[in-house]
Amino acid sequence: MTLTNQAMQKNKQLLVIDDDAGVVEYLTEMLAVSGYGASGETDPQHALQRLETEHFDLVISDVEMPGMRGPDLMAAIHARKPGQLILLITAFGSIDLGVRSLQTGACGFLTKPFSLNDLTAAIERAIRDRQMHREVVRVARDNQDAIPHGLVAESPNMQKIMQLAGRAAQINSPVLLTGESGAGKGALARFIHEHSRRAKGPFLQINCAALPFSLVESELFGVRKGAYTDAREHRPGLFVEAEGGTLFLDEIAEMPLATQPKLLQALETGTVRPVGAGSEISTDVRIIAATNQPIEKALQNGLIRPDLYYRLNVIRLEIPPLRERLPDLEFLVDHLLQNAQTKLQRQIRGISAEAMRWIRAYPWPGNVRELANTLERAVALTEHDTILLEDLAQATQLPTIKDNLLSDAATQSMTLAELEIAYIRRILEITQDNKAQAAKILGIDRGTLYRKLED
Ligand SMILES: Nc1ncnc2c1ncn2[C@@H]1O[C@H](COP(=O)(O)OP(=O)(O)OP(=O)(O)O)[C@@H](O)[C@H]1O
Ligand SMILES: [Mg+2]
Repeated sequence: MTLTNQAMQKNKQLLVIDDDAGVVEYLTEMLAVSGYGASGETDPQHALQRLETEHFDLVISDVEMPGMRGPDLMAAIHARKPGQLILLITAFGSIDLGVRSLQTGACGFLTKPFSLNDLTAAIERAIRDRQMHREVVRVARDNQDAIPHGLVAESPNMQKIMQLAGRAAQINSPVLLTGESGAGKGALARFIHEHSRRAKGPFLQINCAALPFSLVESELFGVRKGAYTDAREHRPGLFVEAEGGTLFLDEIAEMPLATQPKLLQALETGTVRPVGAGSEISTDVRIIAATNQPIEKALQNGLIRPDLYYRLNVIRLEIPPLRERLPDLEFLVDHLLQNAQTKLQRQIRGISAEAMRWIRAYPWPGNVRELANTLERAVALTEHDTILLEDLAQATQLPTIKDNLLSDAATQSMTLAELEIAYIRRILEITQDNKAQAAKILGIDRGTLYRKLED
């Protein structure tokens, strides 16, 4: 280590927390020898007290300690010092806990056993990432409008996801995106790429569910001429083509089991072996994977190898369904209407209050994609300068709204009471039996709805 390096590290104060006094002594000594200012605590409560009055650039903490586990300790530290960098040390058996800690705000974790080199590298990375993150946040604020593929994220739960995504963008670990179809996994993958140091590199994607099993492997890793009868020429494969960039593996739970060890190898060693090739080639690619089926179920059912699952699941971002982020709706409608107008070269003035009320009440099982498609069709079909409820009804693909209750009622000579109950049933169908939403659409309170249903 050079002298200037040592001098720089002297300025950095580290706090080591571990219930094992031997570990604390060993680590603080090693860190001191490496030029850091290091001190230690075996009692988390003591450590918390010190954090109130002393400044530490980084806290290095054990995850499993009697009296206080990693996530709780982190919450307690962040309650006192919101931006405190915390690096966690986990035993192999508690990787799960480490991963959860990462999601709740640790800047990284090291799995025991590790070398001094691993430790100092993790420390330097954490501190450097923090500096870079600050810069990135500043840049993002400076040109809000310039962000391509702007994502709407006004609701608190979506903002949290964006924050985590921003942090994930700054490191190279794999990211696993989960969430219902149309919730925005693809869009978030692109966002992460564009906010990473790889932004200038390629962003490539493969949908594992859309390709025949036999093709996934050669698509990903490439194929040498003559490897099999159809392989008439060399093909580099996505790992090579995405060099210096990001590879997005969509529907990862559908990746053939036989291909999974190769992916694991690529993730662990950064090398791939093209089909029919005699040796490995090294690659520099960041992996983002996504699935819209519950990945834990795929794991239980043996569709995904446990080792691959653990490797991919280091940073997990669960995108909430649209119906759980109502504060986003207004902004999304605005944003998507704008997109639709640009795409269709059609100007409209806005959307009626009644149409907006319906949008708020509808559960959007197809999430943002369904909303985008509905609005696009409405813009294309409308004969007014404002989107009305009837335009949405025409645009939505729900047969329950499309068919005409009124003309049915007339041909069947329904009474008013019968028509009312038929209409209530329709709305309940549309809202998938969500009484609160149905009552909102019907313009009555829930109690009244229940009474009407009982009658
Ligand atoms: N927060 C958002 N703000 C703006 N547009 C969004 C947002 N989320 C998603 N979209 C848009 O909605 C559409 C669907 O999103 P996307 O394709 O990312 O969903 P997905 O989760 O990948 O779905 P699937 O599982 O079916 O592949 C895209 O056109 C995307 O740009
Ligand atoms: Mg997608």
